[in-house]
Amino acid sequence: MKYHKLTENAAKPSGFWGKMMIKAMNKGHSSLTDWGLSYIDIPLNSTLLDVGCGGGRTVSKLCRMVGNGKVYGIDYSELCVSKSKKLNQKNILCSKADIIKASVSLLPFDDEKFDVVTAVETYYFWPDKLEGLKEINRILKHGGKILLIFEMLKTDDNPNKWKPIEKRLNISAVTKDEIGEILLRAGYQNIQLHTKDGTSWLCAIAEKE
Ligand SMILES: C[S@@+](CC[C@H](N)C(=O)[O-])C[C@H]1O[C@@H](n2cnc3c(N)ncnc32)[C@H](O)[C@@H]1O
Repeated sequence: MKYHKLTENAAKPSGFWGKMMIKAMNKGHSSLTDWGLSYIDIPLNSTLLDVGCGGGRTVSKLCRMVGNGKVYGIDYSELCVSKSKKLNQKNILCSKADIIKASVSLLPFDDEKFDVVTAVETYYFWPDKLEGLKEINRILKHGGKILLIFEMLKTDDNPNKWKPIEKRLNISAVTKDEIGEILLRAGYQNIQLHTKDGTSWLCAIAEKE
């Protein structure tokens, strides 16, 4: 019962169980995020965006990597926006971070603003994944990079591993091929797909043409 209430709040955290889920995600996604971030060079003084920022832990990690740059976080959950703001209070005060309520489908930013856009464990929930990736492409600079991080990778060895959670949340775990193909269709190039032995983790990095 507790577990179900928690997992149901992964899609759009709200209320008591949303708060619990945000706490759990900030902790539980930390090493996955560090692993994914290890594959990308974050240019000093660059402008970054974390899509589906949840409780804001990734925003705070990026703030430590970006020198005098700026990190934005967006999430369509009111609760996530307020929790992310709280966690990143100091960075927001010195204008190093900004957290905004928005959906990946309509990002409130000008074209070609960002050097890097990250998205950790959020892709499954996007209403139109191709359009979401194209919208991110629009706001990336030419040569800018997208970094997608997943912990629900489906492989030939584990085709049913994620079935219960897929069913409960009405989402699909991803495959390497599917992510490579959709990134190409959304206009990205130089696609790299990394997995980690002994886990179901996937990190996809691609560049705007
Ligand atoms: C499983 S949580 C991951 C949160 C955070 N990235 C982390 O790793 O802890 C998924 C997050 O994506 C957000 N999200 C889902 N669909 C979204 C959309 N269409 N636009 C913006 N945020 C979205 C949810 O509100 C939630 O905070």
